[in-house]
Amino acid sequence: MANKITYKTLQAKKNVEQIVCITAYDALFASIFDKHVDLILIGDSLNMSFNNESDTLTIGMDEMIYHSKAVCRGANRAYIVGDMPFGSYHSIEDALKNATRFYKETKVDAIKLEGGKEVAHIIKAIVDSGIAVVGHVGLKPQMARSEGGFHVQGRDEASIERVFNDALEVEKAGAIALVLEGTISSLAKDLQRELKIPLIGIGAGNVCDGQILVWSDAFGFFTNFKPKFVRRFLNGAELVEGALKKYVDSVKTKDFPGDEETYL
Ligand code: KIV
Repeated sequence: MANKITYKTLQAKKNVEQIVCITAYDALFASIFDKHVDLILIGDSLNMSFNNESDTLTIGMDEMIYHSKAVCRGANRAYIVGDMPFGSYHSIEDALKNATRFYKETKVDAIKLEGGKEVAHIIKAIVDSGIAVVGHVGLKPQMARSEGGFHVQGRDEASIERVFNDALEVEKAGAIALVLEGTISSLAKDLQRELKIPLIGIGAGNVCDGQILVWSDAFGFFTNFKPKFVRRFLNGAELVEGALKKYVDSVKTKDFPGDEETYL
């Protein structure tokens, strides 16, 4: 496709215009988002927003591949990134095997994995094998269980230094972009200046090179809770319920199907 977005397109936007990113998990919504956004992520957040789990840890490679295939069928313009699930990159061997699955079995442009200094050698090995990597530092949702929740990062000097160094290590290892999640915005601002690769924020303020949101949060379909950083651009759940009530009433009253929906 002539106007297919590549990592070079994303890189060219740094310091020029904001990079707009969103998650998608199926072909239907991916095809709606594809015309309007720069990057679509098949995030392991799907385990929470669509599977009603309390964290992202229980989703596996087979599910991520299934959803990534679907998204790739629906989108052919945006840059597509598939999330490596928890446990799929604990060793270089596993990371290479699973990242390769993404490239062989789907059409994602890159994979994403969480972590900084501790995974830099893994990122480098994946990049060296010819697979593009997007990093993810700051609040790392895959650590939610071991750390007892989702904690904003950068609230003290040690945390600021850790996230800052993590970001630099991920860039040095060869990542093409970096997601920065749940981090105070002054730290995001310093990182945006320091990094050469695009910095995509989620809960990191408006000082990054772009933003990403989980689509069901952004459009009000996921209503179990709303993190501070989410803005609801639509009350999706309410709209669907309203339409559903109309459907239920129409069926019960036999208003539906009418003559125009009936083969006469
Ligand atoms: O899984 C996901 O959707 C993500 C985004 C929150 C960046 O990692």
